[in-house]
Amino acid sequence: AATDYSPAVVVGTGYGAAVTALRLGAAGVPTLMLEMGQLWNTPGEDGKIFSDMLSPDRRSSWFKNRTEAPLASFLWLDLANRNIDPYAGVLDRVHFGDMSVYVGRGVGGGSLVNGAMAVTPKRWYFEEILPEVDADEMYGTYYPLANSMLGVNNIDPDWFETCDSYQFARVSRKHAQKTGLKTTFVPSVYDFDYMRREEAGEVPRSALASEVIYGNNHGKRSLDKSYLAAALGTGNVTIQTLTEVRDIAQQQDGTYTLTVRQIDAEGNVLGVRQLGTKYLFLGAGSLGSTELLVRARDTGKLPDLGEDVGQGWGTNGNVMLGRANHVWDPVGPVESGMPALGIDAWEDPVNPVFAEIAPVPAGLETWASLYLAITKNPERGWFKYDPGADKAVLQWDVAQGQPSIDAAKSLFDRINSANGTIYRYDLFGDTRAFENRFTYHPLGGLVLGKATDLYGRVKGYRNLYVTDGSLIPGSTGVNPFVTITALAERNIARVLAEDL
Ligand code: FDA
Repeated sequence: AATDYSPAVVVGTGYGAAVTALRLGAAGVPTLMLEMGQLWNTPGEDGKIFSDMLSPDRRSSWFKNRTEAPLASFLWLDLANRNIDPYAGVLDRVHFGDMSVYVGRGVGGGSLVNGAMAVTPKRWYFEEILPEVDADEMYGTYYPLANSMLGVNNIDPDWFETCDSYQFARVSRKHAQKTGLKTTFVPSVYDFDYMRREEAGEVPRSALASEVIYGNNHGKRSLDKSYLAAALGTGNVTIQTLTEVRDIAQQQDGTYTLTVRQIDAEGNVLGVRQLGTKYLFLGAGSLGSTELLVRARDTGKLPDLGEDVGQGWGTNGNVMLGRANHVWDPVGPVESGMPALGIDAWEDPVNPVFAEIAPVPAGLETWASLYLAITKNPERGWFKYDPGADKAVLQWDVAQGQPSIDAAKSLFDRINSANGTIYRYDLFGDTRAFENRFTYHPLGGLVLGKATDLYGRVKGYRNLYVTDGSLIPGSTGVNPFVTITALAERNIARVLAEDL
């Protein structure tokens, strides 16, 4: 029997979870959020909450012996990584054979570690990926709501032209323009006014001090400062940290029983307990929510879950690459950790690419231009339950990443040839120019309209919902968190009106 009961439970504290908890709390529904990571609000001995990218310590990583930075090397040297003690740190890299997935761990999920790029996809592409969702409603109501709730802001274009911290982006823009390509400013949830004051030396540095993927000590409006603060402010929402949901079962009366595991920050298991709820919302991210339902189906705990559970997973076509710049084109020693510009070639009919101009926050001149390209890769992976390990294992092979490379190569070959430049071959541990063995943008696994109805209600079960990136069928064409947020707003509005 369940020892504790809450009318509504939200698993996770990322974008989908945070939206859902706020709207439940505001509607007067007592809601418990369960988060496997920590609450990041206490400074360490150095006075900082998070460690930076140049000298990461145990706070950087989720139970690793060594950090696992995306740029494996520089001049083939492993300069970025450090040995660390295993700890409940903020960034995880989950390995599945040919693909590994970066995810945030902690109150705020991915918002703690991401690049803050807050991009709304082109409407025609949204209509292509989710044709059954009313685009008028999304673009008229829910994208504007998500943007304002998240605190999205735009860079001052005059400051951009003169500041030191975006010299790297201006160099890449020049090279794109010489190729006849279009660049576009990228909205952000990093406070650009704070960044301007960082460069002026008026406030402590964060984006300009190589802080991104292991957390930002200042300047970023992560979810703990937006949606989650508002959720707690309703007085109806509580968050339990270092609490991992392991299993979901259903009782005869239709309520759900969760098996949850409590750990401490060193990873010791403090206890395993049961928790009951009537309304269960999964916001554990594409990997987390999908694993919970694949496990529940294949262990027989929720036997009516269908074949679509665990299908339709994609990388958002992520591929990373670097270009070697000429000596007369320095990018400058200080690069803002927050990207502010992208090359927008998404209208290309054959090889659509949206390439964010990414920093190499190394604190020194790198003579390199780095990009995270988002491409339209049609390949999809799926999750298979491994009973021995009690895990859902992503099935994705290296060949499935090739379309991402082909698309990025077609664009960047043109940029190189227009500018007389070449790729960098020293950044990804070996001599490859394109890195597609990881993604920052896991999407799908519990796709809207397939594993769930058109509002995230899981097929086969009442009062069981999916709220997060697992609803999106593998691609958004841009960085995904604004879309995840807007879709969660749309879905919970309907669920509150009809189900609760
Ligand atoms: P999200 O992954 O945010 O949250 C899931 C939460 O659930 C996590 O806190 C996790 O710990 C918790 N959890 C998982 N399983 C659990 C369990 N069983 N029990 C309890 N808790 C559990 N996107 C973008 O739009 N712009 C950008 O600039 C970037 N940049 C970027 C950089 C890096 C380094 C990363 C890793 C990611 C990005 N992203 C991004 C991607 C973006 O952060 C991502 O798409 C969203 O965070 C996904 O939101 P979700 O709501 O799906 O879950």
